[in-house]
Amino acid sequence: MFQVPRGTRDFTPDEMQKRRYLEHNMAKTFSSFGYGEIQTPTFENLELFTAKSGESIINELYAFTDKGGRELALRPELTAPVIRCYVERLQMEPKPLKLFYFGNCYRYDRPQKGRYREFQQAGCEIIGADTCEATAELLALAFTLLKNTGLKNIQLNIGNLTIISAIFKKLHLLKDDQKILLPLIDKSQFDDLKVALRDSNVSENDAERFISVLQTSDINEIRSFIAEDADAMKELQLMETILSMLKNAFLISEYELKLSIVRGLDYYKGLVFEIDAPVLGAEKQLCGGGSYDLVSLFGGSEVPTSGFAIGFDRTILALEEEGFTFPPMKLDVFIIPVNQDMITTSIQIAQQLRDHGISVDFDQLRRGMGKSLKYADAKHVEKVIIVGPKELEKKTVTVRDMKNGNQEIVALTEIYTKFKKT
Ligand code: HAM
Repeated sequence: MFQVPRGTRDFTPDEMQKRRYLEHNMAKTFSSFGYGEIQTPTFENLELFTAKSGESIINELYAFTDKGGRELALRPELTAPVIRCYVERLQMEPKPLKLFYFGNCYRYDRPQKGRYREFQQAGCEIIGADTCEATAELLALAFTLLKNTGLKNIQLNIGNLTIISAIFKKLHLLKDDQKILLPLIDKSQFDDLKVALRDSNVSENDAERFISVLQTSDINEIRSFIAEDADAMKELQLMETILSMLKNAFLISEYELKLSIVRGLDYYKGLVFEIDAPVLGAEKQLCGGGSYDLVSLFGGSEVPTSGFAIGFDRTILALEEEGFTFPPMKLDVFIIPVNQDMITTSIQIAQQLRDHGISVDFDQLRRGMGKSLKYADAKHVEKVIIVGPKELEKKTVTVRDMKNGNQEIVALTEIYTKFKKT
């Protein structure tokens, strides 16, 4: 017996129905915010991913050498590929350039519920705009995308790496210290953080204030901690404007300022954010993003960039956990020829209806009426057309409503109007 590789999944028609529903739903929201779709290859040159993160990232990748000796990797995410494509082909496009994507990603992760080695992301990048309104819209888009899918309970948390860097500077923390501290902050392991800060010679008082600032949503507390750093103060002011726009213009007030959001990836700077679905427990992070810098590293002219990606698979899990009813897979009509002489006419009717965009199937197993109706029921068919010799002589067929079992005789010439989609 063969099985799917560890960390990968098959998707049955019922599952694909949910995935297509979600994709369609999200594509609609992206388009409504003026984004255009982009697609990049599933594998890239390995260097694209090591350029910023260094060789250590290879442990987390599906990296391989092809027959021509090229070092390649299955993409772990789409931001670097999209920026590569921008630098290669899209630099002359009018700004801002708003790009969205759906794509499979591959990470050599330890598989568990909500964490796979092959998973899908739905994401976007905005290139060439970093005004407060552009950033507020990006946050609003991430939130709206998830709300529009039908999710009820999500949490948007917003952090800022410029402010965190200013705090590191204030506390005289060096790059090596930061490498130890950032993962602890990212995972909100504040007890361990306190110990690590002590080991880095941060005073008890400063450590306590820092940990409190990481957890507070009180802008004044943050302000008083970073007051001497002009850059950080400017950044905090911009954050205030962005948050006020999010609330007063985009009418989204369900967010939290949380400086403990520092993101795992290496390319971020400035504002970063995450959206969680608490219903998912351990793997609750549905979305992550922020502003970042890759364009100049990839050889392009400096331009502001930001974006986010939503874990498509986790969004489905969260919807299922919340008891969301996905629209079922539906067949509009099932046609049952009463005997073999009725098969040709049944197919002709099926084809006529299909030409008009109606989904139709007909019994291809020459089963009896009882079994055919049972099959139609199992497929959630709305209407069944029974093609019998007596009715056909009068150029009519029987139409059965599967919801209530009512039957009526319909003229062949009227069948199309009967099923016409409004
Ligand atoms: P990320 O946080 O690494 O960000 O991934 C985004 C989302 O993908 C996560 O929040 C999570 O829902 C989902 N995800 C990540 N790993 C897995 C996995 N192993 N199995 C299932 N789902 C997973 C990025 O990838 C950035 N490129 C986002 C971005 C775009 N930043 C700026 N632009």
